[in-house]
Formats: sequence, structure tokens, C-alpha cells
Amino acid sequence: HLLPAVRIVEVGPRDGLQNIRELVPTQIKLELIRRLQETGLSTIELTSVVSPRAIPQLKDCRDVLRDVNVQRALQNPQLRMPVLIPNEKGLKIAIEHGVREIAVFVSATEGFSKANINCTVQEGIERAKRAISLASASGGPTGESKIAVRGYVSCIFADPFDGPTPHSAVLHCVQQLLEAGCYEISLGDTLGVGSPCNVRDLLTYLKSHGIPLSQLAGHFHDTYGQAVANVWEAYTCGLAVFDSSVAGLGGCPFAPGAKGNVATEDLIYMFDNAGVSTGVNLARLTDVGGWISRQLSRSSASRAGTALAIK
Ligand code: HMG
Ligand code: MG
Repeated sequence: HLLPAVRIVEVGPRDGLQNIRELVPTQIKLELIRRLQETGLSTIELTSVVSPRAIPQLKDCRDVLRDVNVQRALQNPQLRMPVLIPNEKGLKIAIEHGVREIAVFVSATEGFSKANINCTVQEGIERAKRAISLASASGGPTGESKIAVRGYVSCIFADPFDGPTPHSAVLHCVQQLLEAGCYEISLGDTLGVGSPCNVRDLLTYLKSHGIPLSQLAGHFHDTYGQAVANVWEAYTCGLAVFDSSVAGLGGCPFAPGAKGNVATEDLIYMFDNAGVSTGVNLARLTDVGGWISRQLSRSSASRAGTALAIK
């Protein structure tokens, strides 16, 4: 039996680093991107172009995007190299640097929306829509150079200020972003509080309201240790795209207490064992996880990565 392949969206250089207080040198970020590419990962979120006051760590986004290797990767049709942007300003800067894919982000909940992007949920959706239509208009007449847009919906299970999230709030954001032209929506458990039964409930609800699972991705933070289980549950429900971060780095300064993304090493270990193709070389990835953890003077949050490193 052949199980459906999955696509991993490596968010280490963006989500992974954005919550680290000490500035990581640009050269380390660039080397991280290079090393991740060598593992076979074909989708790597490079950075974000956001207010440097909101996320000081990524204020070197222009330097990252100007790098020779990054420029080459941006032009490689085999690779997807998205950049996170909150508004038209971010989009323009991304376009100036040859970015071919952006990610817009909204929250399903008001509290996190205000804290993260300083506006209401609906204002965030309208802002994202303006960026999406500008991105679609930026292509040539054949649409070949059109910029692809991925969408994130945060706080799918709970909000740090407002508590549990109603399914209908998630559905509203997903519908709006898909209608506006996102090719895929990544469902973000920003706080990392959900568990497999919540994943199944939400996906069943979204599907029953007409959302194609083929247009959804899972983005699970690991605060309660549920993220690997959540990915497997989502996979068995029919999702085939998952966001993760090497060494389990990650978090958002506006979601206090939340832990990193599910570790990419842990996902590759799980999918390899199941015979599910990911295109990623686990041994190489483990080396990258060890390397970046040493650079950042922290221990890896990847259980598989840690176990494999001492074997
Ligand atoms: P604001 O203060 O309401 O907006 O911030 P503003 O338009 O008044 O801009 C404030 C300043 O930022 C101005 O500079 C702008 O020029 C500048 P000043 O004039 O004061 O010197 N600015 C920008 N600079 C660079 N690039 C830009 C940009 N836009 C404005 N694109 C704003 C509103 C949305 C800009 C701000 O709140 C912001 O940047 N927020 C982003 C926060 C963020 O990046 N959070 C983490 C990513 S989301 C996440 O992690 C969740 C996710 O992983 C999924 C999940 O886990 O659920 C995706
Ligand atoms: Mg995240």
C-alpha cells in the first residue's frame, strides 16, 4: 500500500527564530537556510517582513533576502521559499527582492489579533485581502510570475486572552482567505494546546462546511507535547502539508508561554517509519538540528534529533 506523501514546510528561519531575544547574526540565518536546503526540504519559510519593533530578531530580512544563495533559491522553480508579510508594505519589500511566494496571517480570535497585528480579526482579513490582490496583480500577462500566497489562521483552538476558539471563527477566516486567492491555509495552534481529538473535530467541521482538506496545512506548536500526535491525526484525516521547525525552535512573542513548533526531525522520523515520503534526509536534518542548537547555545527540543545524535 502506498500512503500519500507529505510536504513539510520548514519554518525554522522564521517562526523558529522570531521569538529569540538575542540577535542571531545574519550569517547564521543564511547558513541555516543553506543547510536546510541540503536536507532535501523543498519549502523553507525564509524570514518575515514585519515591523522591526514587533519582531526585532528579523529586522535583517532585507539582508537575508539579498543573499546570493537565497536569490538563487528564489529563482529555482523546484523550491518554494515563502516570506511572511502582514501588509502591503511587507509585500512591496518582498517583491523588490524577487520573492515568489508570500504568507499572509490572520487570527481567528480578537485578543491575539490585537496583540499580534494591532487590529481586529475583520480588519486583519481586509488587510490580508489587499496584499493578496496586489500580489496577484504583480504577475505578468500570462500569470507565470504571479506571486503565490499562502494563508495562516492562528489560534485555531484557543487564544491567550480570549480562551477557547469557536470552530465557526476558524471557518470564517479560512473561507475568506481561500476566496481571496490563497492556494493553501495553514491552521495554526499558536498556543500548542490542542490534542488529537480537537484536531479531528475541527477538520471534520471544516470539511462538512465545504473546505477541501487538500487546501489545508497543519501548524502545531508543542506546548503540551501533543504536536506530533496532532500531525498524525491530521494526516489520517487527510491533510498532507505540515509546518515544522528544525530542533523544535519557534514561538511568538505575542503568545506568551507557547513553545516551539513541532520539530521537523520528529515528523520525518514518524513519517519515515510509516513509509510516508517526505523527501527529507533525516540524518542530514539531525545534523542541522544539532548545529543550530549549538549556535544558539540551547538544547534541541527535538526528541528524535537528540536520540539520533547520541546513537
Ligand atoms: P502598527 O503599529 O499598527 O502599524 O503595526 P503601522 O502601520 O503604524 O506601523 C508601525 C511601524 O512599523 C511603522 O514604522 C511602519 O513603517 C513599520 P515607524 O514609522 O513607526 O518607524 N512597518 C513595517 N516595517 C517593515 N515591514 C512591514 C511594516 N509594516 C509596518 N511590513 C503591524 C501593525 C502589522 C505592522 C505590526 O503589528 C507587525 O508587524 N506585526 C507582526 C507581528 C509578527 O510578526 N508576529 C509573528 C508572526 S505571526 C505568528 O508567529 C503565527 C504563525 O506562526 C502561525 C501560528 O503559530 O499560529 C504565523
Ligand atoms: Mg507559529
